[in-house]
Amino acid sequence: MTSAGSGIVTVRPAELADAGAIGRVQSESWRSTYPGLVPDHVLLRMTPERQGAMWRRYLGDARRPMGSVFVAEASDGGVVGFGSCGPEQTRRMAAHDGEVYTLYVGDAARGQGVGQRLLHAMFARLSRDGHKAAAIWVLDGNPARFFYEAMGGTLIAQRHSREWGTAIAERAYGWYGLDRFA
Ligand SMILES: CC(C)(COP(=O)(O)OP(=O)(O)OC[C@H]1O[C@@H](n2cnc3c(N)ncnc32)[C@H](O)[C@@H]1OP(=O)(O)O)[C@@H](O)C(=O)NCCC(=O)NCCS
Repeated sequence: MTSAGSGIVTVRPAELADAGAIGRVQSESWRSTYPGLVPDHVLLRMTPERQGAMWRRYLGDARRPMGSVFVAEASDGGVVGFGSCGPEQTRRMAAHDGEVYTLYVGDAARGQGVGQRLLHAMFARLSRDGHKAAAIWVLDGNPARFFYEAMGGTLIAQRHSREWGTAIAERAYGWYGLDRFA
């Protein structure tokens, strides 16, 4: 997987041709981050090929089922991270009308500011689309919650559900005043 290397990373809207690279980053991130949090059989199914095909469908669909998708591209042209955002999905968080649906940085590119760049690009997009505030859901045990706290997010909600045949605990972080990112 490409590292952010020189530190020169461009964040831009994803294109259909990025689907394979997005699938690679996503499957790599799930397999490095979610053991113990998500059942192994789910992680085993999370292959670059399967995820790439899924993103090919999403990015080729004019209805934009995954909202706006951004990629972070290193200076050598390799995709090192991606994220997606759009209207808040549960429609139960009145104040937080926007949502970041996904945010993943490849293992080798972490800790170099890529996640922050992607997050701010998505906040800017949400603001330009008329959203005032944003929410992000994260698994309780995911260290990414410390990243969201470092990014100024505050705990706004918690929920418990069953997914993949197992109990899932999640928390949502929120950001107000998205116009400062636009
Ligand atoms: C969470 C994630 C997106 C962060 O991206 P990143 O590129 O590594 O983060 P950045 O380098 O932009 O970090 C920005 C700041 O957050 C802090 N930070 C990042 N990850 C952190 C962590 N796990 N714990 C504490 N602080 C963290 C950094 O120290 C940095 O602070 P600084 O600006 O004071 O130096 C990335 O680690 C990732 O993809 N994780 C796996 C997938 C995942 O869990 N995604 C979230 C799903 S909800």
